Amino acid sequence: MIRFWKFSRNKPVRLNMVLIGPPGAGKGTQAKFIQEEFGYIQLSTGQMLRAAVSARSEVGRQTKAIMERGDLVSDDLVIRIISERIDEADCKNGFVLDGFPRTVPQAEALDILMSNKEHSIDIVIELAAGEEELVARIAGRFTCSGCDQGYHATFKPPAVEGTCDKCGGHDFKRRADDNEETLRDRFKSYYELTAPLTRYYSQKGVLHTVDAEPSIASVSGQLKEILQTALSDVAVG
Ligand code: AP5
Repeated sequence: MIRFWKFSRNKPVRLNMVLIGPPGAGKGTQAKFIQEEFGYIQLSTGQMLRAAVSARSEVGRQTKAIMERGDLVSDDLVIRIISERIDEADCKNGFVLDGFPRTVPQAEALDILMSNKEHSIDIVIELAAGEEELVARIAGRFTCSGCDQGYHATFKPPAVEGTCDKCGGHDFKRRADDNEETLRDRFKSYYELTAPLTRYYSQKGVLHTVDAEPSIASVSGQLKEILQTALSDVAVG
């Protein structure tokens, strides 16, 4: 079910959000939760790029090897992809960016993009978790080949073993970049290039840091509180 929090005039409140966190922190899991619970559209650059690789499009051909190494694709390319995507009709009430921005130049470009559209980034949530926990999460992660629903062998298995809860499919896959060697590079690029974004957004007064080590439901609860507070501030203000 998709719903927006409504106020006096029954108008949905636009919120544009960013989730930041190292590989396996739960960005995809929690962005989906926000979309289902609040209606803000999940925009995952990782998912968009993987779809381009599967479709063997021009973008996919340019990025396949880079992603398989665990490196970041060029800022220009992801900025272009996001700029086009946020103009689509389903984003008119706001969105939650999962995996973008990932560098300070991407964050600066996003600010310019948003201000050209007379909008801003309202909430940035950092999902913080230690590397040991993250490696365990990525080792157990798999998705449905049919509908891309995400699972974890221990923390979020399908209700019926071998059957997707969402589409009933029986075929599952693992990501090409979910291996030990690539993961080391993904962590390295997170700490070098993405972690400085917490300072960038903290200086703008929009950063919230959440402990992402507890269960999925508990992390979702923390996010729900942040969003409800932001929405009630809008309603009051
Ligand atoms: P991307 O797809 O964004 O990968 P990532 O940042 O490495 O993050 P992950 O998808 O691995 O983890 P997640 O935080 O979403 O965790 P999840 O919810 O799945 O990017 C992939 C690649 O694309 C990059 O390496 C780069 O090459 C390229 N790219 C993408 N964006 C780019 C950009 N802006 N610029 C340049 N290049 C870009 O959770 C993980 C597992 O743990 C799941 O199985 C889940 O069920 C489980 N889980 C989640 N939360 C919990 C919890 N609280 N407790 C227990 N289990 C949990």
